[in-house]
Amino acid sequence: MSKEIRVSMPDDYIDNPIKRIGVLTSGGDAPGMNAAVRAVTRTSIFYGREVVGIFHGYKGLIEKNFKPLASGDVSNIIQLGGTILKTARSQEFHTREGREKAYQNLQEAGIDALVVIGGDGTFTGARIFAQEFGVPIVGIPGTIDNDLFGTDFTVGYDTALNTIIEAVDKIRDTATAHERLFFIEVMGRDAGFLALNGGIASGAEAVLIPETDTDLMTLENFIKSGYRKSKNSSIVLVAEGEKAGGAFNIAKQVENDYPQYDVRVTVLGHIQRGGSPTASDRILASRLGVAAVETLLDDQQSVMVGIENDEIALVPFNKAIKYDKELNPKLLDSIRILSS
Ligand code: F6P
Repeated sequence: MSKEIRVSMPDDYIDNPIKRIGVLTSGGDAPGMNAAVRAVTRTSIFYGREVVGIFHGYKGLIEKNFKPLASGDVSNIIQLGGTILKTARSQEFHTREGREKAYQNLQEAGIDALVVIGGDGTFTGARIFAQEFGVPIVGIPGTIDNDLFGTDFTVGYDTALNTIIEAVDKIRDTATAHERLFFIEVMGRDAGFLALNGGIASGAEAVLIPETDTDLMTLENFIKSGYRKSKNSSIVLVAEGEKAGGAFNIAKQVENDYPQYDVRVTVLGHIQRGGSPTASDRILASRLGVAAVETLLDDQQSVMVGIENDEIALVPFNKAIKYDKELNPKLLDSIRILSS
């Protein structure tokens, strides 16, 4: 017997009082944010709602930088990195006066609810704003760091990972040619997801992440044993939040202790934030964009829409912010095993 699949209909949420939805991107941009903006806009229109783009994140909310979005305004953006809505980190939104101004602007523009796309900071602001003024808000996790509790992946993470492995593959060529040891620093703020999975995917010899203590002696012995065997290049991926002082400091120390190594450092930097989103990020952003609007129209608020085991999951803002997403320690084992 074939399974009946329920198809969403334009009049599904006809009685819900939310008629105009604002959408903004905030914090560090991430590839796939545009795909999410497109999905939020098109889904709102599908259900007969109006959409307003809020430019420059919470700063734009305070400065009333609003523009109505029609379906055509989000054409041809699914493949673009960055965010057409621009983004910012607003100090003023941290103040009660700033948030009051923002609320007044929403009232004046007749915006009944918000979809905010961003990371930790974005959801912290949203939680306070919702609590103070009762604005229904749903969040979409958009950050390359993949550090939000309650979702297996964040929008932008997969693209950043692919950027990392492309860069490391290239560095590997020159590292091998010169038989050098490279320390490559990657982003991730306080989280090691990019470094760890970037390390596995690029065949790094070792990975240093904030979640574990960096033991330089073990690292040095490990690298030495790699060199003694068949390796004629070594790559160590260093997460920017790692606690031993960053790639340059670690490299200096290793160079001091082992002058026979030819050591170089590369900091990948903001290249990791740009570029056309991968298929995975486009699909994730599109699914979460649809889910965010449906969640609002389902009368849910102050939640992030995430993805868990390929299903949409709703996570209250305070949980997404408060809890740390844990790294799978087995992945660290995998690095050690695979580089032996
Ligand atoms: O949160 C995304 C992120 O790229 C982090 O990985 C990094 O620590 C930070 O933003 C950099 O911020 P900015 O672009 O403001 O320097």
